[in-house]
Amino acid sequence: MAGISTDELVAIALEMAGLRKLPADSEVYVPGEQIRRLLVALDVGVAELLLARELGCDGVLAHHPAGGRAVLRFPEVLARHVELMVEHGVTPDAAKAALHPLVNRAVLRAQTANYDQVPAAARLLGIPFLNLHLPLDEIGRRAMVEAIERYQLELGRDLTVQDVIDALRTLPEIAEAATQIMVPVGTIDRPAKRIAVVHGAGTNGGASVAQAYFAHGVDTVIYLHLAPEEAERLRATGSGTVIVVGHVAGDRVGIERYLAELERRGLEVVRLGI
Ligand SMILES: [Fe+2]
Ligand SMILES: [Fe+2]
Repeated sequence: MAGISTDELVAIALEMAGLRKLPADSEVYVPGEQIRRLLVALDVGVAELLLARELGCDGVLAHHPAGGRAVLRFPEVLARHVELMVEHGVTPDAAKAALHPLVNRAVLRAQTANYDQVPAAARLLGIPFLNLHLPLDEIGRRAMVEAIERYQLELGRDLTVQDVIDALRTLPEIAEAATQIMVPVGTIDRPAKRIAVVHGAGTNGGASVAQAYFAHGVDTVIYLHLAPEEAERLRATGSGTVIVVGHVAGDRVGIERYLAELERRGLEVVRLGI
């Protein structure tokens, strides 16, 4: 194989996710060509860049933003929550209001970022380096939606929350994970009724976004993870169900589909912890 460029790695992800341009939380930090052996990890710091060199890799792909614009402009991708909410029947005004506290927190938090240390290390090492966040999560979101639809078709009846869990467990990344799917809000024996897979929007929407779904006819919200205090807030209000897939398990659903495509094209992939 001739090797693959960072631009091609981006193009393949965008194509698979049905996106036209690279979202704000994804970035090529050090462009490169002719990559044959790619180290892939959820999080990449200076240690992982050095490990890549140690392992004979000639490129590094992180899932989560690793610095630069992807960290500083990360709050922009939270707007995807509004699109997902509106697609599920939340009014645009209610969706924007629900997202507001999340964006405020994220904008302030971005000020803490030591945004250039990891990209600077990659530049000094001369190793091609990028991160792909929302595109791979969108691939994963679609796979989870499809798995639930397929399962419902096979079952031929309305799903309970437990059925949705079983449907998600038809995906090997979730079935094989060391974590278990949890239901921190609601109970497994409830009818799942209207379901929203809320993934591929930067991070989970917390209590305020889940509440907006519940107030507009969605009964079951699926997140990768949810802070305990947010779950407590939702339990106190008493409506709706939240299913938590598990962070690594859920992220791997999209990542593995993308890496399988890279391997199909002849790239050697070294997975670190995923
Ligand atoms: Fe992710
Ligand atoms: Fe993640």
